[in-house]
Amino acid sequence: MTTGSASSHGLASQPSGPSDLPRHIGIIMDGNGRWATGHGMPRAIGHERGVEALRRTVKAAQKLGLEFLTVYSFSTENWRRPVSEVSALFALLKTFVKQDLERLKREGVRISVFGTREGLPEDILALLDKAVSETAHNSAFNLGIAFNYGGREEIARAARRLALDVADGKLQADDIDEATIGRALDTHAFPDPDVIIRTGEEHRLSNFLIWQAAYSELIFLNVLWPDFGELDLIRAIQTFASRERRFGGLKSGAA
Ligand code: IPE
Ligand code: IPE
Ligand code: MG
Repeated sequence: MTTGSASSHGLASQPSGPSDLPRHIGIIMDGNGRWATGHGMPRAIGHERGVEALRRTVKAAQKLGLEFLTVYSFSTENWRRPVSEVSALFALLKTFVKQDLERLKREGVRISVFGTREGLPEDILALLDKAVSETAHNSAFNLGIAFNYGGREEIARAARRLALDVADGKLQADDIDEATIGRALDTHAFPDPDVIIRTGEEHRLSNFLIWQAAYSELIFLNVLWPDFGELDLIRAIQTFASRERRFGGLKSGAA
């Protein structure tokens, strides 16, 4: 079991500094299939357990005082999986929104959805729209759901939008800088992730927040996503706190 509170694991007693607690954590929730296979169960059960891990993680993130959490739920490349698995993943998203939206609303969670609408069925789009619109006034915690999301697709879509603005005379090509692009991305209301956690033993981003992750601390864990819990999140935050972020500058005190 991966349970435990912040105080019993020393997070609360750590020296606090501006960089100790990340504002925004992104999570690549990987390893559901291998978890299921390892337990002699169909992959879909691994995805079901993955939703439980998601619930635990959102709860833990709120409790620990994070402001932003983005979870990678379905990538633009996941369409390459068998139709039956894609359908199971869509069904789980529907169940999650139907079962959890009221509670998330009460808890002050604001939901944002990142990714393209292209290819998604109407019922999924309607539920995602509902989750976004019914939580738009909330501000206690921000949950980003990257669904049908790919970083390259997001950047290409932003480029198309900016090109249209230039064609319409609303924007000068010379004025397009990093900030302009950042504002045109789906994640414009979120700060760049301080940390990206990937479970499931793979050491890659798989097209997750590739623009935004330029200076994110990357944490790769051997735990499979359905086993992830509050303690793993706390440990990841402690790992983050022990890293020195330089953003291309020098180690503090080295000058
Ligand atoms: C992550 O688990 C969930 C999604 C990608 C939607 P996987 O389904 O990728 O699990 P593994 O990597 O095959 O174990
Ligand atoms: C990344 O996991 C996508 C999500 C977690 C939603 P994948 O399992 O799809 O990534 P690859 O194929 O191992 O790179
Ligand atoms: Mg995987």
